[in-house]
Amino acid sequence: MYDDIGPDVSESFLETPLHPPTTIMSGKLASEYDSWKKLQHIYDSERSKLILKDLFAHDPDRFSKFSVDYASKGGPDVTMLLDYSKNLITQPILDTLLSLIREAQVESYRDKMFSGEHINTSEDRAVLHVALRNFNDFQIQEAGTEEVASVLEHIKVFSEAIRSGEWKGYTGKPIKTIVNIGIGGSDLGPVMVTEALKPYSKRDLAAHFVSNIDGTHVAETLRVCDPETTLFIIASKTFTTQETITNAESAKDWFLQSAKDKAHVAKHFVALSTNTKAVTAFGISSENMFQFWDWVGGRYSLWSAIGLSIALVIGYNNFEQLLQGAHAMDKHFKETPLEKNVPVLLAAVGIWYNDFYGSQTHALLPYDQYLHKFADYFQQGDMESNGKTVTKNGHRVNYETGPIIWGAAGTNGQHSFYQLVHQGTKLIPADFIAPTTTHNPIANSKHHRILLSNFFAQPEALAFGKTEEQVKKELGSGASEALIKSKVFEGNKPSNSIMFPLLTPATLGALIAMYEHKIFVQGVVWGINSFDQMGVELGKVLAKNILAQLEKPEDVTGHDSSTTGLIHYYQKYRKE
Ligand code: F6P
Repeated sequence: MYDDIGPDVSESFLETPLHPPTTIMSGKLASEYDSWKKLQHIYDSERSKLILKDLFAHDPDRFSKFSVDYASKGGPDVTMLLDYSKNLITQPILDTLLSLIREAQVESYRDKMFSGEHINTSEDRAVLHVALRNFNDFQIQEAGTEEVASVLEHIKVFSEAIRSGEWKGYTGKPIKTIVNIGIGGSDLGPVMVTEALKPYSKRDLAAHFVSNIDGTHVAETLRVCDPETTLFIIASKTFTTQETITNAESAKDWFLQSAKDKAHVAKHFVALSTNTKAVTAFGISSENMFQFWDWVGGRYSLWSAIGLSIALVIGYNNFEQLLQGAHAMDKHFKETPLEKNVPVLLAAVGIWYNDFYGSQTHALLPYDQYLHKFADYFQQGDMESNGKTVTKNGHRVNYETGPIIWGAAGTNGQHSFYQLVHQGTKLIPADFIAPTTTHNPIANSKHHRILLSNFFAQPEALAFGKTEEQVKKELGSGASEALIKSKVFEGNKPSNSIMFPLLTPATLGALIAMYEHKIFVQGVVWGINSFDQMGVELGKVLAKNILAQLEKPEDVTGHDSSTTGLIHYYQKYRKE
């Protein structure tokens, strides 16, 4: 049954290089940089003085000093405000963080990335998601980059044919439903963006995303699909991912139960991949394949053919606006001095908490329901990129690397986990994100004003808290000591606030690119390779071995007693 899945090759193991990587790093651990040592000294000696209440009281200009007004140069207009004044930093601390970034040669690595050098050293690959949204500004030397425009044209023509109804299914009916089948980067980006840009969507084209190998996901999706009017988009860089190929096979079986003739597959299945051979073997013709290249990392692939479902949902012009917005942020990242460079500043303050304060997590808190998948998206974006323990040169780090990324749309989070953020024992730096204007001005934007009042209040409460004196005054005499203590907010919890006028395709593009580059900067400082994902391999290999042992209890060998016991429990009670 499973033999037709093909070899389980992750994107990390495609074409593993046989020759040494082209870029050799200095070999220094981040903790060996002079500026790192200086930061450690500042942290040890000045931490007790870093009180936000005092920092604001002593400097009325703190907001203007520690905020940046981003405005795109060229392309669609995008503006964005980054207020990072509510961070536990002073100007000397920020300067030292920026010195660290310089000492780690981030600018040089950034330029290497943009020029197509193979900075993904373990796989000897270029890292060129920026080439997918280049619009002829950057000179990039890498095979495949000259084909980007023709793939975009293919996406444009195809998406217009589907959206206009010109493309017909096997019984002559137009497509009414699309189902993207992919996982990880071949799912999360399209899911997040199509949710975020729903106001721009074609409301009569239903879009579903199937990712989980749990048959429930594909079964529940197919339940609401009509084979005559459904288009399946099989999205997989490698086209060997077990979940995706198994789900795609099941979708094809379901389709053929109605369509009967395999020739009809051409009207209902397209593929987004780098692997033409595997796509053809699956039964999708090469003209229904949208190509991309090994220099597009899975978690950076929504800008590539993987974005086909986005173009179908919001239309090609809006998809291009998304790319344009990202491109303008790329230019900002490449050309702006570090002191005003938005991704660099986010990276700098993130390192301060992650590596000196010992914060384990970073929360992404969008006050925009359309961004409800944003934290999920950057869980992969950040954690698969920077969740590494060895440097590019194979040395074990002696500091923390990537933080745990999590979050939820405001104000839902306030009624769930904010209690811990405000009064728990952990320091949780957070990014608050909000548009000034809503796409849904219900009741004269009353909802939005309430939403934004919370967006403004939370960072304020986190930063400045509530003292015992204030609580005592509020409660009056007679309140117990315990009650008073329970109502104190220590404050001094850091956050960034990011605002923009409206969540447009171009703004979203800029926002995503901003975080991509933040992740890049941090990865370079930590000396790790942000562009491979070896850590997903072991579990896959073990699962494959276990899959072959699930039939009979006597086949279950080579495991610890816990794993053996769990498999035996399954074998005893399963009903299939
Ligand atoms: O989780 C590992 C990974 O390789 C991700 O990096 C990638 O986004 C995902 O699997 C899906 O891979 P593919 O697009 O090749 O199916």
